[in-house]
Amino acid sequence: MARSDPILELRGVDVAHGQTQVLRDLTLVVGKGEIVTLIGANGAGKSTLLMAIFGQPRPLRGSVLFAGEEITHLPTHRIARLGLAQVPEGRRIFPGMTVLENLVMGSLAPEVDQGVMARVHALFPILKERLTQRAGTLSGGEQQMLAIGRAMMSKPRLLMLDEPSLGLAPLMIRRIFQALREIVDEGTTLFLVEQNANQALRLADRGYVLVNGRIVMEGSGAGLLADPEVRRAYLGGH
Ligand SMILES: Nc1ncnc2c1ncn2[C@@H]1O[C@H](COP(=O)(O)OP(=O)(O)OP(=O)(O)O)[C@@H](O)[C@H]1O
Ligand SMILES: [Mg+2]
Repeated sequence: MARSDPILELRGVDVAHGQTQVLRDLTLVVGKGEIVTLIGANGAGKSTLLMAIFGQPRPLRGSVLFAGEEITHLPTHRIARLGLAQVPEGRRIFPGMTVLENLVMGSLAPEVDQGVMARVHALFPILKERLTQRAGTLSGGEQQMLAIGRAMMSKPRLLMLDEPSLGLAPLMIRRIFQALREIVDEGTTLFLVEQNANQALRLADRGYVLVNGRIVMEGSGAGLLADPEVRRAYLGGH
């Protein structure tokens, strides 16, 4: 269980894509200020879970609560306005727009908060140097930074990331995980979905293991990292 008040709770959630049930009776909690990770292999249902929190697709059963409020049936745009932001799988930046334009897109307010913009620049100085460059010309790691920066522009209370390390070199992964630590230190809660169990469990306070749409294990980040079964399945047995 979370050590603080829950900011996100899923209770007995079932999710399907069409006729195919993907998540079964999924229950998890993310406490305020925590870093929680969900690890799972390819196809386990990690992305489906993040999408379902935003109601796309909507859970068939169970409930999703944000800061104690039921959001299961709210429209997606209303959910975003409550203070949840998502960095989707594959980043989904706008390649033809500039770095600055991408960041502005992340702001939900009509006027960009320049204080938040300055914080994003401080978090990722490389973005500040490239504000007028087309986002499609950035490296993969820089695009991931941009996707995180864009999500931070909405001043989220909870930031959810879908495999931010995917396809990146180890040095870039380290930089991004350092930035995630800074984001948490500044007061945002983190829910991180990863196949890269090693990095994710090192960063996280707690973790859940998802297999075929079910949570099969939960524990502290350090506890899961040391667990022989987790090591065998997700850390190459080392
Ligand atoms: N839009 C969709 N329509 C139908 N089936 C889908 C859709 N998206 C995902 N699925 C199926 O749902 C299951 C879970 O997929 P999901 O993308 O959530 O897994 P994942 O854990 O994020 O995998 P990965 O690590 O490869 O990103 C898979 O069997 C996948 O084929
Ligand atoms: Mg996925």
